[in-house]
Amino acid sequence: MGKALEGIRILDFTHVQSGPTCTQLLAWFGADVIKVEKPGVGDVTRAQLRDVANADSLYFTMLNSNKRSITLDTKNPEGKAVLEELIKSCDVLVENFAPGALDRMGFSWTRIQELNPRMIVASIKGFGPGPYQDHKVYENVAQCVGGAASTTGFDDGPPLITGAQIGDSGTGVHLALGIVTALFQRTVSGRGQRVDAAMQDAVLNLCRVKLRDQQRIQQGPLKEYPQYPHGTFGDSVPRAGNASGGGQPGWILKCKNWETDPNAYIYFVAQAPVWDAICNVIGKNEWITDPDYATPAARLPRLKAIFATIEEWTASKTKFEATAILSAHNIPCGPILSMKEIAEDPSLRKSGTIVEIDHPVRGSYLTVGNPIKLSDSPTVVERSPLLGEHTGEILRDLLKLDEPRIRNIEMSGALGERFPIAAE
Ligand SMILES: CC(C)(COP(=O)(O)OP(=O)(O)OC[C@H]1O[C@@H](n2cnc3c(N)ncnc32)[C@H](O)[C@@H]1OP(=O)(O)O)[C@@H](O)C(=O)NCCC(=O)NCCS
Repeated sequence: MGKALEGIRILDFTHVQSGPTCTQLLAWFGADVIKVEKPGVGDVTRAQLRDVANADSLYFTMLNSNKRSITLDTKNPEGKAVLEELIKSCDVLVENFAPGALDRMGFSWTRIQELNPRMIVASIKGFGPGPYQDHKVYENVAQCVGGAASTTGFDDGPPLITGAQIGDSGTGVHLALGIVTALFQRTVSGRGQRVDAAMQDAVLNLCRVKLRDQQRIQQGPLKEYPQYPHGTFGDSVPRAGNASGGGQPGWILKCKNWETDPNAYIYFVAQAPVWDAICNVIGKNEWITDPDYATPAARLPRLKAIFATIEEWTASKTKFEATAILSAHNIPCGPILSMKEIAEDPSLRKSGTIVEIDHPVRGSYLTVGNPIKLSDSPTVVERSPLLGEHTGEILRDLLKLDEPRIRNIEMSGALGERFPIAAE
């Protein structure tokens, strides 16, 4: 069976997390992704947070599946010439260098268009145009400037960073959508275009409901927030603790063994349509008709006490027992799963969302497979490439360079130390 993006070739100039997330998704959909890496070093994450000596780290292997790797010094004139050939042979260039790095390398948008007018150039930067456009940005900075940190955590504590990498991986996913959209438009226009995704913008897009609440707060207190009715509201969206971001109130409640197990909790949504079922399950039938509890509006000022009562029930069950009982009554809820539980979950293994991969240097490891499942383009996750593993085949088979030319490039030092590859 063919793959959705078969025939699309990506010149992958990405590093760390945000860009590699994007190109890994494109590779899983069938694009030929060629990762260009600095000779001798490669993507900095190859050596970061290493758990196995001299092997590519999990940081790298989990973000670079299904890609090919070529080492190329793009500041060396021979390396630049190879890069020009690659630009002519690829459909998309993806990069997440610090602002201006591609221009400094000599590959401005104008120059790339001269080389290949059909090329799509996709970039991730920390910020869009404005006072911060030249700043370097990492994940947590993006969470802070995109509105996530100020709205995460408890009212009496500092702003909090979430474990979900919404700045890096979140922006990578946005960029991937921009790229396939530009590829689609190219089928009509015949032209490439620039695709820019700023990390601040992507985080803000994911914090959309908080900008909703910023406007609602002008009209009065946010009644579904835990600050209501006894706390105070300022003029900006406060931290909502574990309150639900939607129209149905929710909270995290203790389950059996919470005293010793840090994840013995359940997320409970007191959804209005199943209120009667909630009352039945927790043994509070009188709440069904009591005017103080019978309607969502009546419940809002009492949410804290209502959840405390529900918690008396959840604390008597394990999170899995509580989930099973509540789900049988169609009450929305979910156990707080630890990473250990997720890693061992048989259904996630079966669906290909968690995959075990073999690697020639580090041995087998777990990774998150493609979370987006296409029925006509199933994903087979393959290991990440070793540094420069495909340099020879890309020069020979893709760029069709002959042996004397390859020898010249090699002699110039543009490919780094690991070679000779000429007539290897
Ligand atoms: C992530 C980030 C902060 C890292 O910064 P950094 O380690 O200083 O890395 P840079 O992106 O500045 O690149 C370093 C240099 O390597 C050079 N380089 C990269 N690949 C090269 C290659 N194959 N050959 C030669 N030089 C290369 C770049 O041209 C750049 O040189 P310059 O500074 O002289 O222009 C920065 O890249 C950034 O802000 N990126 C955009 C936002 C982003 O994606 N952040 C999240 C990352 S998960």
